[in-house]
Amino acid sequence: MHVPTLISRKREGDELSAKEIRQLIEGYTQGEVPDYQMAAFAMAVFFRGMTPTETAALTQAMIAGGDCFTHRPGHPPVVDKHSTGGIGDKVSLVLAPLVACAGCWVPMVSGRGLGITGGTLDKLEAIPGFKVRLSLDEAAAQLERLGVVMMGQTERFCPADRKFYALRDVTGTVPSIPLITASIMSKKLAESLDRLVLDVKYGSGAFMRTKQDAEALAKSMLEVGREMQVEVRVMLNPMSEPTGRTVGNALEVAEALECLEGGGPADLRKLVLDLAEAIAGVSRAALEGLLDDGSARRRFDEVVAAQGGHPADLLRLGELQRAPIIREVCTPVGGLVSKVDAGLIGQAALQLGAGRARASDGVDFAVGFDQLVKCGEPVPRGQAVCRIHARTAVDFDMAEAMVEKAIQLECGLDSASR
Ligand code: URA
Repeated sequence: MHVPTLISRKREGDELSAKEIRQLIEGYTQGEVPDYQMAAFAMAVFFRGMTPTETAALTQAMIAGGDCFTHRPGHPPVVDKHSTGGIGDKVSLVLAPLVACAGCWVPMVSGRGLGITGGTLDKLEAIPGFKVRLSLDEAAAQLERLGVVMMGQTERFCPADRKFYALRDVTGTVPSIPLITASIMSKKLAESLDRLVLDVKYGSGAFMRTKQDAEALAKSMLEVGREMQVEVRVMLNPMSEPTGRTVGNALEVAEALECLEGGGPADLRKLVLDLAEAIAGVSRAALEGLLDDGSARRRFDEVVAAQGGHPADLLRLGELQRAPIIREVCTPVGGLVSKVDAGLIGQAALQLGAGRARASDGVDFAVGFDQLVKCGEPVPRGQAVCRIHARTAVDFDMAEAMVEKAIQLECGLDSASR
């Protein structure tokens, strides 16, 4: 393999063979191909794209360089969900135990939040003691016992993606559909799945701002699923307002618990059921029953206990992860909520400390928003549109100013609501 030739051919728009792509990725993972050549390759792909066959080959090469789940013969259907990320998206915390209750295995390998997008691992770590670093052997044993494990990538899980993503992040090559596809699909398909559902978000709080871009990503991921003979379903979902009424790690766990007990906001429950129905192999009514009769909540408690936490702590999470300042933001005018800008709320949550600007930053589990109003709801004058949980008064003021921009009301209800 002559790397400069491969880069030049991609720059000219040639299609590379699966063997060439595999050798490139192997060489990069083993440190034989330096970052500067890989950065040039990424930029060539950014401008020239990849065919579905090349994208599938890249995905396969990234899986091949690391460890994969191997499930025992006769295992139940192995399924998972991936979301391209959003604001207040706590769906995984509910869906994983729910689908396990329906008889599937869910080996959910998740990521941390970055920028305005939250991450499942950060939310789980808001539960004191919860351990997300598990070996594949530990994960396999837990799958056998509980049908669900929620964990982070091990050192040896898709190591090429770990290295390549960090390089893309500093070379302006993250927003490339084939590179995003290979990155996401390699991590999910290394779980050795039978079925996968993808929740591709679009809107102000999403990675893909337009529906058109989200459709292109969805198509690309479907093609890779097809090439790799995994049943993949895709749903496009708007991320114009946050999911549910909370944004922030511990606050989102509390809301996920409500949903696991059959309650919680209607949009969260609907999204969980829509996605679960696509992979669980049981009816929507059966899934609703598993939420409403407490089965999914009990399974979540078992996961917490198995991974180092104490289920009793879930009942007092609000005290354990309590921000010093918790205050309402009230509206001076009454009206119908016409906008809750997910992007702005995500920015405010990031600045409160709920998210991380750089991969090496930590997160504050306690801060964020709850009691957020939803689009279409009437709010009388003087009533709260949300509560802010802040570490300092300065942080509160900053978040309040951002909320005032993010939440818009169509006036006219004022006199009716007085
Ligand atoms: N998330 C990923 O895991 N990879 C990407 O490339 C983009 C988003």
